[in-house]
Parts: sequence; structure tokens; C-alpha cells
Amino acid sequence: MYDWLNALPKAELHLHLEGSLEPELLFALAERNKIALPWNDVEALRSAYAFNNLQEFLDLYYAGADVLRTEQDFYDLTWAYLLKCKAQNVIHTEPFFDPQTHTDRGIPFEVVLRGIKQALVDGEKQLGISHGLILSFLRHLSEEEAFKTFEQAMPFRDAFIAVGLDSSEMGHPPRKFQRVFDKARSEDLLTVAHAGEEGPPEYIWEALDLLKIERIDHGVRAIEDERLMQRIIDEQIPLTVCPLSNTKLCVFDDMRQHNILQMLERGVKVTVNSDDPAYFGGYVTENFAALHHSLGMTQEQAKRLAQNSLDARLV
Ligand code: ADE
Ligand code: ZN
Repeated sequence: MYDWLNALPKAELHLHLEGSLEPELLFALAERNKIALPWNDVEALRSAYAFNNLQEFLDLYYAGADVLRTEQDFYDLTWAYLLKCKAQNVIHTEPFFDPQTHTDRGIPFEVVLRGIKQALVDGEKQLGISHGLILSFLRHLSEEEAFKTFEQAMPFRDAFIAVGLDSSEMGHPPRKFQRVFDKARSEDLLTVAHAGEEGPPEYIWEALDLLKIERIDHGVRAIEDERLMQRIIDEQIPLTVCPLSNTKLCVFDDMRQHNILQMLERGVKVTVNSDDPAYFGGYVTENFAALHHSLGMTQEQAKRLAQNSLDARLV
């Protein structure tokens, strides 16, 4: 039914690999690693995917990630996502991974990275999907802990294109991470950050001025600040918007209230992304389809959104 959306060549610029862990794979990895789960079956887990806000989702997302233990697990997770990309004509992806979610459980940094990176390299060769990997810091942890993670990453510097910032936004402003982002830029890494998902426009200003980000992840609350909107339009700063995520996490009550097409028509470089597709009901094509279904997105608008995603690539 949405073949025309599937057929558009697209890049995905906002995807958490841990958020692509489908319940079926979660159960399979739990069995392989002999981990007891608090849910009886896949259906019971899926029915727990009802969230009132970002934090309720994050609690389940971090619990789910506990089944990821070995290099093979991280490989299988990443490979399953790449097969979805192939099926939906996503020709380039710039995924995030959250090393601290794993190193804090005693999984060595290199186990996580090797599994993910090998799948991405195989994806280039076997599926023709290019990539740039983004190391994301958890903002509910301290800057000191982010520095520790950065030091663990440096022996593998060439595996990344950028650092990012995710997890609980409220109460954890971008300025908390200014020095570690300065350090990353001194190593010629690019920077991106989640801002303006639940947090206020001030967090977007900070991400731009202090973290010197190339793209804003989410950024939908920019619309509350006209001066910020003008800057984003004038400088053509891309927004990686995630419509299904925003409705599942109650950033908007209903898809019909989503502002992505309004932003597009004002000249904002908005893109469509899936964020955590296993938890929010779909990958990139399903996000486009929701915009068509609920907001009447036209074919011409879909083409512009897809072109924006290709233009807003970091590599
Ligand atoms: N980590 C995974 N998904 C996220 C989101 N939508 N916002 C912040 N942190 C996240
Ligand atoms: Zn995200």
C-alpha cells in the first residue's frame, strides 16, 4: 500500500540501535544468554509498550538492552536493523549507540563496538548501505562519566563520525556536556544532540551555541521560539524528526497535531526518522506512511523530506 514511500531512496539520521531490538530478538537473545525475563512472552512484552513520557519508555528500553551481552548479540541486533533498511530503500544510515548502557553492566566497550561495526561494514559490502556511526552520551549521567566513555572510545576513533547526546532531557541541559563536546571536536569528531524533544527551546540554543551541533535531534519544540526558528531556517540546520516516537511518547497528543509539515513548508530542513522502531510501531516507511495518513502529506512533500535526509548526512 505504501510502495511509493518505500521506493523513495532515503537516509536515516536518527536511530538508536538499542531501540531497534524487536521483542522476538530480545526473547531469542535472552534464551541464548540464559537470562530470565520478567515478561511471559513476546505479546506480554509488546503490550508493555505504552508510554506517557520519555522516561517511562527509557526505563523499559534500558531493561530490554540487558539481553545484549556478546559481540554476536550486537552484530545480530545491527544486522536485523540493516535488513529493515534494505527492505525500505534506506541507502544510508547514521545510527546512534549508547556505550554506557552496556559498559555500566560490565560489558567491555570493544565488545559492543566490534559487533556493531562489523555488521555495519558487512552491510556496506553485502547490502550496499553506507553508514556513519554516532557515539551517544547518556545525559542523565555526569560529564565525568562521559569523559571516561570518550577515553574508552579513542583507541577506536576511526569507527565514529560524531558524538551525540540522548536519554532523559529535562533537567540535563546541553551545557552540562560542553567540555566533553569540545574535546570531541578537538579530535575532529562532528557533534549532534537531542534537544527540544521534551525540553524547552533554550536547550536547542545551548546545543547550537555551546555544543556546536551540526543537526538537532527532534527539535520539534523550536516552533515555540520565533527567533530560533528564523536561525534554523537561515542556517538550514537539519532537524531529525521522529513522528511515531513523538506521538508514542506524548510529545504530541495525536499525529494530526504534529508540526513536521508546518516546519517543512516554512523552509526548515526537516527529515523523517524512526528513533526506536521496535518500541514505537515502525521503521522509516511507517513514519512516512503515518504522515500521509494523518497529515495528508503529498508525494511532493515526501520527496522533499527524503531529499532532505540525503542532504543532511554528515558523511
Ligand atoms: N534514547 C533512545 N531514544 C531516545 C529518545 N527518543 N530521546 C532521548 N533518548 C533516547
Ligand atoms: Zn532519539
